[in-house]
Amino acid sequence: MKRIALLGATGSIGRQALEIIGAHPELELVAAASGSQPIDGVAPLTQVGGDLTDLLERARPDVVLNAVVGFAGLPATLWALERGIDLALANKESLVAAGELATSAWQRGGGRLLPVDSEHSAAYQCLESREPGTVHSLVLTASGGPFRGRSREELADVTPAEALAHPTWNMGPKITIDSATLANKGLELIEAHFLFGLEYERLEVVVHPTSTVHALVRFHDGAALAHLGYPDMRVPISFALTYPERTATPVPPLDLSVGLTLEFEAPDLETFPLLTLARQAGKQAGTYPCAFNAANEVAVAAFLEGRLPFLGIAETVEETLASVDGAPARELSELFEADAEARRLAERTAATA
Ligand SMILES: NC(=O)c1ccc[n+]([C@@H]2O[C@H](COP(=O)([O-])OP(=O)(O)OC[C@H]3O[C@@H](n4cnc5c(N)ncnc54)[C@H](OP(=O)(O)O)[C@@H]3O)[C@@H](O)[C@H]2O)c1
Repeated sequence: MKRIALLGATGSIGRQALEIIGAHPELELVAAASGSQPIDGVAPLTQVGGDLTDLLERARPDVVLNAVVGFAGLPATLWALERGIDLALANKESLVAAGELATSAWQRGGGRLLPVDSEHSAAYQCLESREPGTVHSLVLTASGGPFRGRSREELADVTPAEALAHPTWNMGPKITIDSATLANKGLELIEAHFLFGLEYERLEVVVHPTSTVHALVRFHDGAALAHLGYPDMRVPISFALTYPERTATPVPPLDLSVGLTLEFEAPDLETFPLLTLARQAGKQAGTYPCAFNAANEVAVAAFLEGRLPFLGIAETVEETLASVDGAPARELSELFEADAEARRLAERTAATA
């Protein structure tokens, strides 16, 4: 029996996780949390908002599935990593923002960090815990989002409803907007750097519109291993929750008899500058990734509320990154300060855009 705590139970990942847990008698849901929606009766212990580590202390789970959206997921990520409790991580923002603090906690705790992001789950399976030195490079695939092929001029007036219409994945609003701007792939680059210990020069992004190949790892011996499957988050959720087993899901195996065309193209970095901004923030290190994430969260919220045009999201992040000092956070309080400062700057920029 594995005791699972599910944080973000009312969201897109959370609902799919409930389906996976419900189908596996060996998975026991001991606790569930949401941000504001009621979740009474979903699990023996529940919590709506507040400090989620209180719930985790009471629940004492074997696995924490962190499917909270945004920086709000950080305390739970650090709680699990520090204690060596297996962490199934969908909440990429916490690893991006906390960076070195999170990886130090992971090393001290010694537990498993199982990515739920489909690309990172795929890469994890291709890498099979091999040393970073054996790896030539890791390729993360991007669908390109709903605006693939459009020019900057064509994006000036796009609405939240248009940006929320993702071609291949059905996800929560924040990550869907991040997919439309390619900020999501930027966050994933930084996430991959911390998860797999690979330098940014060895992390590549390609656009692959059908989202069939989720990641590809090139090795120094000339071989490349890719992970293929239908775009369905129940697969990586199930992989993380049932690891090291591979148990059945309702998702069918890939059918090649219908003919499968795999197309790849370079991302359009000029139209979607957030990918380059994320790479730069990752390389600059310190609290630059935290500031990237904070400014992006503020800008996405402003866009969804109709206060900022689509192109203003990248402009807000760029101006914020140019204004912060990016100094490394030696402790959590300094990270929270860096996050708060970036949010203040981003709010100011977004208000004048
Ligand atoms: N959706 C996907 O397919 C997908 C794929 C890969 C990675 N991810 C990552 O998974 C995470 C969740 O994404 P999602 O698409 O599932 O988002 P979502 O549908 O918006 O759900 C977010 C969840 O977080 C909860 N939440 C928000 N603020 C909270 C707080 N302060 N304390 C506790 N819970 C809080 C929400 O509760 P309420 O409902 O009460 O607001 C909801 O349960 C994100 O980090 C995303 O990048 C998602």
